[in-house]
Amino acid sequence: MLASGQGSNFEALVAACRSQHLNAQVVLLVVNNPGCGAEQRAARLGIPCQRINHRDHPNRASLDSALISACQQAQVDLVVMAGWMRIVTPLLVEAYPDRLLNIHPSLLPSFRGLDAVGQALAAGVQLTGCTAHLVRPEVDAGPVLVQAAVAVLAGDDHRSLSARIQRQEHRILPLAVALAAARLAG
Ligand code: GAR
Repeated sequence: MLASGQGSNFEALVAACRSQHLNAQVVLLVVNNPGCGAEQRAARLGIPCQRINHRDHPNRASLDSALISACQQAQVDLVVMAGWMRIVTPLLVEAYPDRLLNIHPSLLPSFRGLDAVGQALAAGVQLTGCTAHLVRPEVDAGPVLVQAAVAVLAGDDHRSLSARIQRQEHRILPLAVALAAARLAG
């Protein structure tokens, strides 16, 4: 799994595996922000964690090459971007064809890119949500695996809406991993 921030989706996926709701194992977390919440959760959960700081790389391709090496060394079958806030290059997408997943806090194709929750609030929509999808080179695009809708309530602010969307993310991400694996199995 790749994470940049708090790591709540990372922890939810670990929990799904440990409770056997998902027949999978999280073997490695990679973080790009030293000391981020995800890194702290990995230590608490006993999941190996590797720092690959994008600030140490001259460009996106160099960062992605380091990610590919780490994933290959860990012999992973799937790579899950769980709040990975870096744009990936075709290098990573092509190294893990149909094996690279992302979770995004909107009903794609609405509100791609940064701050999807803020975009939804600014647009005044009454319904938003989250999407787990396979990654393609275009940002926040690719075949949808699972979506969940979340109503925007009167009086919602960024924090309250984000919290409800995240609860749905934690529910759909394990389903998306199972679907991606089933798709590969044919
Ligand atoms: C999640 O809400 C995820 O959808 C979002 O970052 C958050 C990470 O939370 N990802 C994106 O916006 C990617 N475009 P977490 O670190 O607590 O899992």
